[in-house]
Amino acid sequence: MTATIYIPDDSGALALGAHKVAKTVAAEIAARGLDARIVRNGSRGAYFIEPLVEIATAAGRAAYGPVTARDVPSLFDADFLSGGAHRLSLGDPEQIPFIARQTRLTFARCGITDPLSLEDYEAHGGLAGLKKAVAMAPADIVKTVTESGLRGRGGAGFPTGIKWKTVLDTVGDRKYIVCNADEGDSATFADRMIMEGDPFVLIEGMTIAGVATGATRGFVYIRSEYPHAIAKMEKAVAIARRAGMLGVNVLGSPHAFDMEIRSGAGAYVCGEETSLLNSLEGKRGVVRAKPPLPAIQGLFGRPTVINNVISLASVPIILDKGAEHYKNFGMGRSRGTIPIQIAGNVRHGGLFETAFGLTLGEIVDGIGGGTRSGRPVKAVQVGGPLGAYFPRALFDTQFDYEAFAARDGLIGHAGLAVFDDTADMLKQARFAFEFCAIESCGKCTPCRLGSMRGVETIDRLASGVEPGKQIELVTDLCNTMKFGSLCALGGFTPYPVMSAITHFPEDFKPHPVRAAAE
Ligand SMILES: Cc1cc2nc3c(=O)[nH]c(=O)nc-3n(C[C@H](O)[C@H](O)[C@H](O)COP(=O)(O)O)c2cc1C
Ligand code: SF4
Repeated sequence: MTATIYIPDDSGALALGAHKVAKTVAAEIAARGLDARIVRNGSRGAYFIEPLVEIATAAGRAAYGPVTARDVPSLFDADFLSGGAHRLSLGDPEQIPFIARQTRLTFARCGITDPLSLEDYEAHGGLAGLKKAVAMAPADIVKTVTESGLRGRGGAGFPTGIKWKTVLDTVGDRKYIVCNADEGDSATFADRMIMEGDPFVLIEGMTIAGVATGATRGFVYIRSEYPHAIAKMEKAVAIARRAGMLGVNVLGSPHAFDMEIRSGAGAYVCGEETSLLNSLEGKRGVVRAKPPLPAIQGLFGRPTVINNVISLASVPIILDKGAEHYKNFGMGRSRGTIPIQIAGNVRHGGLFETAFGLTLGEIVDGIGGGTRSGRPVKAVQVGGPLGAYFPRALFDTQFDYEAFAARDGLIGHAGLAVFDDTADMLKQARFAFEFCAIESCGKCTPCRLGSMRGVETIDRLASGVEPGKQIELVTDLCNTMKFGSLCALGGFTPYPVMSAITHFPEDFKPHPVRAAAE
């Protein structure tokens, strides 16, 4: 029987040498005259053990990792094709604690299947949601998504079903589905992982959105820094089209839906939905004033659903298993699962999909295993560059949209950047203003100028010029930015700044005072 070896083709695994491993494995197979094939799967998201090589044995899969090209000959010598013991043996991948503790709904196939095999996709539950959707009335699909409690995973947490209902109810000669795959937040990689590891689930989710709202064309706007994801998605769309999953008769139904992949313009603000629409139309990525909402006048002035990758990729399982099934996971108004991305100075970095409700401490200490440096955790920034810094004192905060908001934070796209006790929170606050100044689209004054003044004020604070006055100024400036900015880039920059000042006041003493105290 031909042996099957799984070696990830995911950018994260490639950065850790997966491609070299695959080439060496192929060379060994040829040199030893073995009957084996290599499948380039996605990643299971446990990056601390990537490249994770898996073998399909009669007793299930056997995992080895992290594998380097140098380890490959010894793996063959240890008969790893039959699951033989080796110092890199990890046993059944499903039993690796980081993987076993997850609830995988959206990422159910990621790292398991061949990302570009539609047969493999279907064999692992793919297409079941779309098959149901094409036989349903559009309003019933929207109702199912609404009842599931799914909220946008791009950052704002807006109920997906309500957005879809607006598009369904709006008359338009053409409607669009736009997938926001700009993924600019620090410490986030969930969108990339699913596009590279299970692209058909996104195509299926977008097609369901099209059938539900009457949209016939979709666009995936992928950040240009993700060439690998762009290539994977393009191949997957071509395969889906050839198989009749996309086209004038989706899965043989009267519904028409097709889609295209577009490369992003390389600015953080292009992830903001109206700026993204401008960019898709070939214009500069400047934020549009709302109203009109994109759901009413979006791409090319037509009714448009714009959703994050994970929001759309979560829809197929909702249609397949029903709204109740999805809704049963989670807490409060945060229903279903969330792919938490753990990064920064952390031992077990990776993607961890789980129901809402774990505490920040459980995630950082229990799952992430604390810092990689071995030093105490000082702060965790949750929700990307516009998210608040949480000190250990707030580690009892549950992963839930409302619980985070109640503590002046946000979940955002669920990325966590962990910092140890060497982090200087004044520098982090300065960085927040600087980031905003660099990425501002320039349309409104509080953000365009406020961010520059913020950098200058923090610099004065650092050099000891009237520190009390500078803190007052920064606080005032943050209020102006929070309430006067047109979009969340200027409006949320106060979160990292004020959380750093509030929770780490010792770092905001001017340098000479700090030096004297040390
Ligand atoms: C500055 C800025 C950057 C953003 N970047 C992204 C992004 O990279 N990806 C994303 O999905 N949403 C991003 N958003 C949120 C989008 O504006 C929008 O809320 C989202 O695409 C809606 O999809 P959802 O409801 O599925 O979350 C950003 C917002 C702002 C203000
Ligand atoms: S807040 Fe900043 S990014 Fe947003 S519209 Fe205003 S200037 Fe542009």
